[in-house]
Amino acid sequence: MTDRGHSEGITMSGGGVYSLATIGAKHVIDAATPMVLEAIGSLSLQSVTAGFTLSDMGTADAGTSLSMITRAIDAVRARAPQAPITVIYSDQPRNDFNALIANIYGLGSYESYLERHRAVYPLVSGTSFYKQIVPSETLDIGFSATAMHWLSTKVCNISNHVQAVGAQGEELAAFRQQAHRDWRQILLHRARELKPGGKLVLINFARDEQGRYLGNTDGINMFDTFNQIWLDFLAQGRISRAEYENMTLPQYYNSVEEFSAPLLDASEPVYQAGLRLDHIETRIVKCPYAEAYGEHGDAARFAAEYIPTIRSWNESIFLNGLDSERPLEERQQIIEDYYGTYGTMVRDSPAGHGMDYVHAYTVISKTT
Ligand SMILES: C[S@@+](CC[C@H](N)C(=O)[O-])C[C@H]1O[C@@H](n2cnc3c(N)ncnc32)[C@H](O)[C@@H]1O
Repeated sequence: MTDRGHSEGITMSGGGVYSLATIGAKHVIDAATPMVLEAIGSLSLQSVTAGFTLSDMGTADAGTSLSMITRAIDAVRARAPQAPITVIYSDQPRNDFNALIANIYGLGSYESYLERHRAVYPLVSGTSFYKQIVPSETLDIGFSATAMHWLSTKVCNISNHVQAVGAQGEELAAFRQQAHRDWRQILLHRARELKPGGKLVLINFARDEQGRYLGNTDGINMFDTFNQIWLDFLAQGRISRAEYENMTLPQYYNSVEEFSAPLLDASEPVYQAGLRLDHIETRIVKCPYAEAYGEHGDAARFAAEYIPTIRSWNESIFLNGLDSERPLEERQQIIEDYYGTYGTMVRDSPAGHGMDYVHAYTVISKTT
């Protein structure tokens, strides 16, 4: 039986497929770009001129952040024409770093900023954001989008759902506590990395003030759909009870209060390490595939475009949740049938399906 309790068991689709299947994630980063540019504008000229460093944590294949990073480099160049610029791309060791390299160096579908700018040094790291990624006091801007909802560990299986949004009682409390610890660990490492006066721009999945979260805004709840299909497979005897529970996603969506607490309370180690909350707001970015369906009206096309975006981030968890005693082909067939079932649901009754993004956009500064 496999039980990958650690977030290093997750992988995004490789071969550059991730960015192509996640145009919505790019829209989220594009929406955060003004915050990054403003943060760059707030840095001391002396610090930028001495050498500017930006990190993109949980970058996947770097395709979704390429425009934002290009604009950040333009902004630094406008302030400090000769400054050396280092861009640290980090993700976990199992990430598809070949696709990332292809995207950064212009070998994939995107034009590289390296063709336009001199003295820009991209560096790649396989260090988790649960550890310190760069040396102390060397970072000007720490950026991350849509990554820090992955917990450092799966504290327990959820017995009635696939995600903490559907958990209850002690199971929910265990997830909440883990997220509490993890968020503080992430911030404490960033506090060490940042130069005094440096900034974090962190765009994270959230539960907003109205209880909305990814795939649960005004239509059908996407996580309930994930759960229902696995429950149906369980009822049909296609998977075991243990496999069903193993489908638990090691994720948690913080509320604005949960994100803000360690940055506002003077007794918190994060606050004492010098981090302060400059800004936090929640925003919704509409599911691009559902929006497109509203225009073209072709349900089969909607399903064909929408299902891959879901697969790109949860297929590895679900595949690893299946009993490793089963032959690989059997496990793969169950996974095909799972997404096939979801695709049929969307094709047959498309109204209300979609994965609207609900994020907290957070800007944090390190006191000088
Ligand atoms: C949904 S993707 C987001 C990619 C990109 N930042 C974007 O917004 O399009 C989440 C990424 O976070 C990475 N990730 C998850 N846990 C991580 C960790 N502990 N340290 C670094 N990266 C992690 C995953 O490998 C994946 O590439």
